[in-house]
Amino acid sequence: MKVCVVGSGGREHGLAVALARTAEVVVTPGNPGIPGSVPTPPEELDADLFVIGPEQPLVDGLADRLRAQGKRVLGPGADGARLEGSKTFMKEVVTAADVPTARYGTFTEVEPAVAFLETLPGPYVVKTDGLAAGKGVLVTGSLDEAVADVRDKLSGTSFGDAGRRVVIEEGLTGPEASVFVVCDGERAVALPPAQDYKRVGDGDTGPNTGGMGAWSPFAGCPDDLARVVETRFAEPTLAELRARGIDFRGVLYAGLFLTPDGPKLVEYNVRFGDPDSQVVLLRLTSDLADLLAAAADGDLRRAAPVTASDDTFVLVVAASDGYPVAPRTGDPIEGIKEARAVDGAEVLCAGVAADDAGALVTAGGRVLDVLGRGPDAATARRQAYVALSAVSWPGMHHRRDIAAPVDPEPVDP
Ligand code: AMP
Ligand code: GLY
Repeated sequence: MKVCVVGSGGREHGLAVALARTAEVVVTPGNPGIPGSVPTPPEELDADLFVIGPEQPLVDGLADRLRAQGKRVLGPGADGARLEGSKTFMKEVVTAADVPTARYGTFTEVEPAVAFLETLPGPYVVKTDGLAAGKGVLVTGSLDEAVADVRDKLSGTSFGDAGRRVVIEEGLTGPEASVFVVCDGERAVALPPAQDYKRVGDGDTGPNTGGMGAWSPFAGCPDDLARVVETRFAEPTLAELRARGIDFRGVLYAGLFLTPDGPKLVEYNVRFGDPDSQVVLLRLTSDLADLLAAAADGDLRRAAPVTASDDTFVLVVAASDGYPVAPRTGDPIEGIKEARAVDGAEVLCAGVAADDAGALVTAGGRVLDVLGRGPDAATARRQAYVALSAVSWPGMHHRRDIAAPVDPEPVDP
């Protein structure tokens, strides 16, 4: 089978590596660090399966255009992509499907928004309705800060038109989990869960990012989480989408909080996560190309069961100077070959470009994904950080606590 992956970041590199185990892979446009990258647009390529990585082309209807050409595509049409493109739509669908999620309200005017905030116990969560690359979310314990953020977003100052409608939510607590569910429009197959580290700084400090690291499996994950997400989240959501005439063949990414009352949905994305899916995809031992093709055909019944290595996979993102506020680009990247030589390590290229001499330079905020694997989390983590210590460029930074054991809760004597 020949598979065409659409996109250009670490997620697409991860997809390419996992798919290449059983298929021939091209990536468009890819990047100079991803083997098989071609500049030809997907509309002009021939492949047996097209897998669309990022959300923006899905929201813009790329899956619809490719299907209209008779191509076999994994990725929802523009109708299904609204689950990620509009938080209001997402909340409407999951409420109708009775999926466990946070209390919320949607607002375009400041006064009712503030009135709703005042009814919540806090923490407060203020989100832009439109796409803001994971950065349009404020989580705060301060009502004043939440009110100020609502004003900035609704006035268009902070996020332009994407902010002119806001969703306000009750803040959830507990560890977060990412579950990627492969969907054929009707049936759902969840992959093993992962955990993503969203804040830029150690100990979950500083601004939110697209994700600074991930691991799978992760400590504290309930054994039945994948199964629960299939039956309690994904299948009811697919049924509700079908009732609205939407045939969702793609990846439903459930962003969850593992609350004391069980898992609750924070968000749906309509694609694999970045970087959280990379640890899951590389962990798989079953045939990914075959699974995704079956979903694209609307017939997951024919796919072999998903299996994964018992090893732990740990991923640390190496980011450019200034990320996530103002990433600097064009810095020469050293040491990828040395990092790959570390036992159990893998390096995926996310935000990279080639300079005139063909050498790799930084071209985005999240530049490299450095992975380690091992029979336990401590070993995998050590291999990831040993590999990471081989790569460098001016101003490179990363978190030091990915997959680190969390101090146990203090116990009252
Ligand atoms: P989103 O753009 O909805 O993915 O949110 C980005 C991040 O903000 C999430 O991964 C969470 O870390 C945080 N977040 C979003 N919604 C909530 C919520 N209701 N309670 C607590 N944290 C949240
Ligand atoms: N890692 C978060 C995301 O892909 O949205």
